[in-house]
Amino acid sequence: MKETQAQILKHHGGDGEFARKMVTQSYARRHDEDFWQFWNDSMAPAIAEGDSLLDLGAGVGQFVNDLAQRYPNNKVVGIDAADYMLAAQEVLPENGRLIKDDLNAPEANILAGSVAAVMANMLVHELPQPITMFKAVYQWMKPGARFCIIDLVRQPLEAYLEHKYPDGAVFEKAIERAEIESVFEHFLEHNRYHADDILYMLQGVGFKVLENTPQRGGRFVRIVVEKPC
Ligand SMILES: C[S@@+](CC[C@H](N)C(=O)[O-])C[C@H]1O[C@@H](n2cnc3c(N)ncnc32)[C@H](O)[C@@H]1O
Repeated sequence: MKETQAQILKHHGGDGEFARKMVTQSYARRHDEDFWQFWNDSMAPAIAEGDSLLDLGAGVGQFVNDLAQRYPNNKVVGIDAADYMLAAQEVLPENGRLIKDDLNAPEANILAGSVAAVMANMLVHELPQPITMFKAVYQWMKPGARFCIIDLVRQPLEAYLEHKYPDGAVFEKAIERAEIESVFEHFLEHNRYHADDILYMLQGVGFKVLENTPQRGGRFVRIVVEKPC
């Protein structure tokens, strides 16, 4: 756990409070009407009353909160490893809770076989390798359950830098050494997988692919897979 917490903090630039602020502030934009339309069309059909729902890398529990309110007759569990996220957790309804676990080596087998829907939003690129987690999730899921992954995926350096510094500004303006080095380090971390790499791992574990949609100009992907019946 300590090693994972150090990895996460390093990925978050050594400033957990700032990372928490960034991720919580962008939550509403990332979970807009279109997102909930997608959820209702592509994830909700797998959910029956009483099933468990799971959010991996749940942060302060914003998505757990939303799901717990939308599904009052389902148990909703969020998992995170960072104390600076868990300590600031939202006040959740009775049917929602956050648990501390390391998704690099998950122990939360309390969920085994009961989970109908799983979300991993902006998590996979933060893991040194996600195969162990994918295998655990597969075990936790019921047959017919669905797993949604939304994440940053590999893109050319030009697209990455243009997003950070539009109109070639990276070549025009003076940039502090610490800033440009941090941008290049994050390029590697945010560029870890092509969407095909994520699909390859999920299929290797046994999942069937239902959706593979590039998003935000190809910088992100939304994947939905199913545990076959
Ligand atoms: C970028 S945040 C996304 C939070 C939330 N899913 C969202 O979309 O708003 C990624 C989260 O994953 C958590 N995380 C990263 N690696 C983890 C691990 N090995 N085990 C558990 N949580 C992890 C981080 O602590 C952080 O809260």
